[in-house]
Amino acid sequence: MPGSMTLIDGEPGDRIPVSDRGLQYGDGLFETIAVRDGRPCLWRQHLERLATGCARLDIPAPAPARLAAEAEALLTNVAAADGVLKLVVTRGSGPRGYASPPAPKPRRILSFAPGLPAVIDGAKAGVRLTLCRTRLGENQRLAGIKHLNRLEQVLARAEWSDPGVLDGVMCNAHGQVVCGTMSNLYLLDDAGIATPPLTHCGVAGTVRTLVRDCARDLGVPFAERVLRPEDLFAAHGLCISNALLGVLPVARIGAHRCRPEAVPAALIERVRQIALEPEMQS
Ligand SMILES: Cc1ncc(COP(=O)(O)O)c(C=O)c1O
Repeated sequence: MPGSMTLIDGEPGDRIPVSDRGLQYGDGLFETIAVRDGRPCLWRQHLERLATGCARLDIPAPAPARLAAEAEALLTNVAAADGVLKLVVTRGSGPRGYASPPAPKPRRILSFAPGLPAVIDGAKAGVRLTLCRTRLGENQRLAGIKHLNRLEQVLARAEWSDPGVLDGVMCNAHGQVVCGTMSNLYLLDDAGIATPPLTHCGVAGTVRTLVRDCARDLGVPFAERVLRPEDLFAAHGLCISNALLGVLPVARIGAHRCRPEAVPAALIERVRQIALEPEMQS
């Protein structure tokens, strides 16, 4: 399989049967994993969230050792340096209709794309966000997991075309801030760092847990709190996180100017070191 960028159930390929329930219903999960120097970062955390998602959806979880072996084979095969490893697990193929097959055979799709976003400028000057109109629906059974149903993010992402805007902030139907289309969001004020609870919607980011732990290590209080857009505008500072970016301070949200320097440089650096440090645990 020289140079193959995708493994489907461990075999090189790029074709999925039309009967796959990931395609038919979004019946599956995914992880977007940073690869540095050919090795996946935060591997254990990504596999934990995947396992949580599989348990929630009642999809038999692929064995971690098998996923690790396939990831290693793929990354070795493409001589990967820095890039993005996308891991998709679907419930597999099934007959017509929503009913799950009695003995599903989950499908594993691992693909690699070279190149990671350049975060150095963003880490210094801060990034720009926009406030999206598209609202997130609420469903406690889906909250926190990284399932394949991403139409809300697709609609929200279509709201801006300015390449200078990195992400869009999304609210739930009550007008409470939840997250970015591809990131978790944090506010800094006199009380420390606050981030929205993710009990009803949103994705529990691998880096979100890291931000919490690093903040506490640095003596900065960290709490979940219901936030509204006006709270973001009144904050000392804002930052976002995901597995490809680490933590980045926000310079602007819409026309509102923020203070990127309000986000502790030590927090950004510590999270970056851990989130973008190669690690592989099976
Ligand atoms: C909606 C959403 N929230 C949060 C995140 C952050 O998750 P992680 O830190 O695991 O990248 C992502 C990542 O893509 C996302 O799409």
